[in-house]
Amino acid sequence: MNERTGGDAAAAVVRRGRLRLPRGLRWNLPFYFFSRFFKPGNPILLFEHLRQFGRAAHYRLLWNDIVLLNDPEDIREVLVDKAGVFVKERTQRRMRILLGEGLITADGESHRRHRRIAAPAFHRQRIQAYAGTIVELAERRAERWRDGQRLDAAAEMMALALEVTARTLFDTEVTAEIKAVNDETNAVMEIYNTLIAMPRAEWLLAAHVPVPALMRFRRAKRRLDAVVDGMIAAKQREMDERQARGEEIGGDVLSMLMAARDEVGGTDVGNGMARQAGNRLNERELRDEVLTIFLAGYETVANALTWMWKLVGEHADVEARLMAEVDAVLGGRRATLDDAQRLKYVEMVVAEAMRLYPPAWAMGRQAIEEVEIGPYRLPKGCFVFFSQYMVHRDERYFPEPLRFDPERFEPEARAGRPKFAYFPFGGGGRQCIGEAFAWMEAVLVVAALAQRWRLRLEPGQRIGLQPKITLRPDGAVWMVAEARGEAAKPEMDEMEARA
Ligand code: HEM
Repeated sequence: MNERTGGDAAAAVVRRGRLRLPRGLRWNLPFYFFSRFFKPGNPILLFEHLRQFGRAAHYRLLWNDIVLLNDPEDIREVLVDKAGVFVKERTQRRMRILLGEGLITADGESHRRHRRIAAPAFHRQRIQAYAGTIVELAERRAERWRDGQRLDAAAEMMALALEVTARTLFDTEVTAEIKAVNDETNAVMEIYNTLIAMPRAEWLLAAHVPVPALMRFRRAKRRLDAVVDGMIAAKQREMDERQARGEEIGGDVLSMLMAARDEVGGTDVGNGMARQAGNRLNERELRDEVLTIFLAGYETVANALTWMWKLVGEHADVEARLMAEVDAVLGGRRATLDDAQRLKYVEMVVAEAMRLYPPAWAMGRQAIEEVEIGPYRLPKGCFVFFSQYMVHRDERYFPEPLRFDPERFEPEARAGRPKFAYFPFGGGGRQCIGEAFAWMEAVLVVAALAQRWRLRLEPGQRIGLQPKITLRPDGAVWMVAEARGEAAKPEMDEMEARA
């Protein structure tokens, strides 16, 4: 018996011709419409229901075969070993109506080309240059808080992450344009959730069908594109001026993307035409990539931090150890890049928060040919899902899974688990390109804020889950800021010099 599968029963298969499918729901999914687990607004309920089938579960939605994988080794097979047999699942591909052809939506050679072009902007050395900016912005926010002030941690972390994105992506403050991108994106997202559930939404959009939701989407998307195009044009002027003065290009992600060249070349999946090595992203690709990185990069980090403050607010022992580490490592001075590596406990706390509340809570792929995964043989076209939210709560790897315990991320404990028992950033060739950036940002933000403030969770709140594209809290997370002793604060002259 294979222990990892939890026994043969967990890996039982149902044969259909040559196929071997996991056990699962008996009827087509829409027949469960009135059951407790079938809530289109909360797909986690469906995943929790499917957990009873063990290692994997199968169900059908209309004519589609869908499989939920719960086993880390099976997930690794999909994301790493057999990644070439899978493309992104349909809703992610349908994101093209919003994001065009960027890193998240592209597949195959087109994806590899985008990845090659974007990689230098996310190189470890490159992103380390953002450490100072991150700390500066976090401290600026910390300076605005007052002792005893009631704060919505979700709104505060969202605003801070947006500031960090604006500075690192575009090298600007949160200007009217950034606010417009944010507002238009939120407006588009509201409609977008309806649209991606609509079969052939992309065709209806392209055909200018006069459905009110589609018209609103088209309008908002046009405005969004116009703002981003304007920012790119402004950056181009800035780059030209720098070049004329013989200066190096800026260090922001947009400048890097604009300057980047694809050294390898390849074939454009869209039109099958060969690309020359040395191609840059064209204007449209650049806009798509900027929007993609903008969207992927800030809400995820903001959610991770929000859940972390909530959990720390509920666990006085963790909070005490976290504060002690911050004080010991920083000793009253401003956090630096080197500290991000030294703040081991802070990193463990962030990791444990992302275990319980992974910002990217589920991922999906579609098989482009018949494929064997673990004991199963899945049909061509099969949709395969796996959920960080579910796997991170598997008691085989995380005993007492609901307990918040950062020590699960001590190096020895980590080493004892399969890699895909914990995968907040995905894995394989499509692993999050911003992972190193996200860790650095989260650790430095926590250190800079915890140095000056303790955030007390207001008692009696019911904070629920809102599993949209990211896993958000379903409303405000009210906390009260309590000033910490003088010794913990960064030196005042340093702060004043910056003010
Ligand atoms: C806590 C923060 C973050 C989490 C949990 C997260 C999670 C993920 C996950 C799970 C994927 C893989 C999706 C898939 O394969 O289907 C992904 C991809 C991606 N992420 Fe992140 N991410 C975070 C932060 C960031 C940041 C800060 C950026 C950029 C500034 C970023 C940019 C991207 C991009 C561009 C992709 C697509 C990569 C590709 O397909 O090649 N992410 N992210």
